Amino acid sequence: MKLRHIISSLDLKREDYFSIFEYADKFANVKGKLTHLEGKVLALAFFEPSTRTAQSFQTAGIKLGANVIGFSSEESTSVAKGENLADTVRMLNNYSDCIIMRHKFDGASLFASEISEVPIINAGDGKHEHPTQAIIDLYTVYKVFNTIDNLNFGLLGDLKYARTVNSLLRALTRFKPKRVFLIPPPQLKARKEIVEELNYQTIEVENPYDVIQEIDVLYVTRIQKERFVDEVEYEKVKESYVVDTKLVEFMKKGSIILHPLPRVNEIDRKVDKLAQAKYFYQASLGVPVRMGLLYKIFNEG
Ligand code: CP
Repeated sequence: MKLRHIISSLDLKREDYFSIFEYADKFANVKGKLTHLEGKVLALAFFEPSTRTAQSFQTAGIKLGANVIGFSSEESTSVAKGENLADTVRMLNNYSDCIIMRHKFDGASLFASEISEVPIINAGDGKHEHPTQAIIDLYTVYKVFNTIDNLNFGLLGDLKYARTVNSLLRALTRFKPKRVFLIPPPQLKARKEIVEELNYQTIEVENPYDVIQEIDVLYVTRIQKERFVDEVEYEKVKESYVVDTKLVEFMKKGSIILHPLPRVNEIDRKVDKLAQAKYFYQASLGVPVRMGLLYKIFNEG
């Protein structure tokens, strides 16, 4: 199937995930530069900060032979002079073959896709979605367990504002998770509009110790400070959970801890050296996964 815009993880079918995984496997082992995207220009339109997504997309594009242009803050563009998003997208259509966009507003990528003649890849829009992170998350699970089905997932942390959580929950509708535990602080529960539309049941849990022994994949998120309207509300909830060595002791053999990163203080540094800690490995898969996605967008028809 030809992929065009990638706005939500629901834009990918189960077979699309597996096909990207196959490409990622292939590209992970390639040394040097390829020519699949030679003559193509990718535009990185990052209106919000990023380390992993921007740099790994740039690396993926370069490794496939594309040229990469773009910006990493709103202030460095003519948006700072009052230009609107629609005109910015129209301009990038003149210069590029694909726009990879991060924006603080929910729905910004969808809006861009309604104007754009070239594919838009959502690299994170507000608290809405971050679909390419979900592909990396599931690829990591697949690399470790050789399956995504019949596993117990536990999502711990800010499930209200973390866009990676929404994309992951939606991506899991393409698979058959055994159980999905949601373990947020009371103020940061997953959004009803996301949870109610899933094709599987989620189980809300207050205390991670109640279910930690059952979990295969513990997915941790930081509290998304930048999404809080009220600093006081953030202060109330910050540091309300932490994954420490004491909690990890209760995890079953072979289970893993993922985190989309950046990490603030929700995973104790002492956990980094434990066998369960797979979040830096997960981040390392960003380049091959994004190579696989770009290859699929440009080369499958
Ligand atoms: N995981 C993720 O989106 O990281 P960045 O914000 O650094 O891109």
